[in-house]
Amino acid sequence: MRIVVTRRIPEAALVELRALGEVWMPEEDRALDPDELRKTVAGAAAIVCMLHDRIDASVAEAAGPSLRIVANVAVGYDNIDVPALTSRDVFVTNTPGVLTDATADLAFGLLLALTRRIAEGDRLLRSREPWSFHLGFMLGTGLQAKTLGIIGPGQIGRAMGKRAEAFGMHVVYSGRSEPKEDLLRRADVVSLHCPLTPETHHLIDAEALKVMKPTAVLINTTRGPVVDEAALADALLGREIAGAALDVFEREPEVEPRLLELDNVVLTPHLGSATVETRTQMALLAAENVTAVLTGKEAINPVRG
Ligand code: DGY
Repeated sequence: MRIVVTRRIPEAALVELRALGEVWMPEEDRALDPDELRKTVAGAAAIVCMLHDRIDASVAEAAGPSLRIVANVAVGYDNIDVPALTSRDVFVTNTPGVLTDATADLAFGLLLALTRRIAEGDRLLRSREPWSFHLGFMLGTGLQAKTLGIIGPGQIGRAMGKRAEAFGMHVVYSGRSEPKEDLLRRADVVSLHCPLTPETHHLIDAEALKVMKPTAVLINTTRGPVVDEAALADALLGREIAGAALDVFEREPEVEPRLLELDNVVLTPHLGSATVETRTQMALLAAENVTAVLTGKEAINPVRG
């Protein structure tokens, strides 16, 4: 059985996959372009893919009737046309649970980096500009007694909420069907944890940013297109909100150039799940899903279209 792994994964997961069949993995550590991807998957029984691989009907066709499972090494699966695969009886799986704490840690870390100006302070020292301690120097804002508004009360959103409560914050949640305007109006911090779907695309647009307090900050660790990045840059430049911390971008890996110029913005390159432990568990979970399906069992984390 041919198993295609679109980008390098930890050895422990490869060992599991090699026990099932012939594993193909690219030599070079880069994303495959769509044509390469289609060529590579021909005859595959399983595709282990990354969030930057667009897996749609054309990829399923290119793989052919041997394809049984597409295992995404990510919890988000907006890169996969799930109905196009499930209608061909191909399982689609993701990696929920194992990255909850890592992603919430990063989201909270971004919040602290932004509100306590950690990244900005680091840049100042590296610039070798003279500085000296005084009572008004580089003041940030405290989190205690502030309100954190979480959009997307799933596992990661709730884990972020737990961390915020430990810091003395008041936490409010808004799910899929609840109105978000009240949360946007009340929150000192808005943190996004909803999946990217047609409904959440540009959920935070110019209008939503206008509803937020001018002292509020936005944290995004879910998917870039949930935020209209150009509108966010406008809102920051117009002082409609006080700051933003982003781990994900609308046109990843590109970043809206105006955001790169702003000191009240903290940027990280999609590091939400980036710990050795978590990435290993994600890859192992994907391999377990492949093993289950190729040995005739049900997938552990099936995603329904
Ligand atoms: C996911 O799993 O969806 C994350 O974005 C990966 O870091």
